[in-house]
Amino acid sequence: MKIAILGTGMVGNALGTKLVQIGHQIMMGSRTANSDAGQEWLRLVCGKAQIGTFTDAAAFGEIILDCTNGANSLAALHQAGAANLRGKILVQISNPLDFSKGMPPTLTVCNTDSLGEQIQREFPDTRVVKALNTVNCDLMVQPSLVPGGHDLIICGNDAGAKREVTARLVEWFGWKKENIIDLGDITASRGTEMYLALWVRLWGVLGTPHFNIKIVRGG
Ligand SMILES: NC(=O)c1ccc[n+]([C@@H]2O[C@H](COP(=O)([O-])OP(=O)(O)OC[C@H]3O[C@@H](n4cnc5c(N)ncnc54)[C@H](OP(=O)(O)O)[C@@H]3O)[C@@H](O)[C@H]2O)c1
Repeated sequence: MKIAILGTGMVGNALGTKLVQIGHQIMMGSRTANSDAGQEWLRLVCGKAQIGTFTDAAAFGEIILDCTNGANSLAALHQAGAANLRGKILVQISNPLDFSKGMPPTLTVCNTDSLGEQIQREFPDTRVVKALNTVNCDLMVQPSLVPGGHDLIICGNDAGAKREVTARLVEWFGWKKENIIDLGDITASRGTEMYLALWVRLWGVLGTPHFNIKIVRGG
């Protein structure tokens, strides 16, 4: 499958590397065609992928993984271009974290809106599925890093796109279908993004980013 990874940070690296390892065609996008970070990743995967601009990658991908810096995702996606995103699934992973006042970060948007919604509004012809944003990137591609069953929350307006993303998360990374909770339309990304306030504090207390939530249901 041709997959676009938008973003050259640790999330783009983790997802891109895993997807190359399992044989997919990957193009990693950046603001510039030959970014240092992109070239470094390309060396890491022994040249078995491509790098380019956000525009190049979005045009290349049949499915697009948004791993851009959350405070700048809208800018990055505009560089990718609405025409290149049209009709495609955008797995929207970034969180709108604002580190400008230090730790812990705050959110650039919350309560009555979210980054997932902003992106869906800005690109109405793109099938936005918010997913993977509630777990560390090592865990995204290797859920077994945390023992036992633990859950992933997804949301989005397009039921078919959510089914497709669920199938890919199972096939690519080994998530269990029963652990993927569809929380409804894209407004649910308010909750999954605001969860980051709790996630960051848990990280500090636990001393590892390798943890996750498990929803336990009563009768
Ligand atoms: N770290 C995790 O485990 C984890 C887990 C869940 C969610 N997330 C979220 O995933 C996202 C990616 O995180 P990350 O640490 O991998 O990368 P990051 O450093 O937050 O973002 C890197 C990407 O953002 C682009 N970018 C930065 N400023 C930009 C601007 N002004 N305009 C357009 N593009 C810009 C960069 O472009 P260039 O390539 O041109 O520099 C780069 O490709 C974040 O929102 C983060 O909150 C992270």
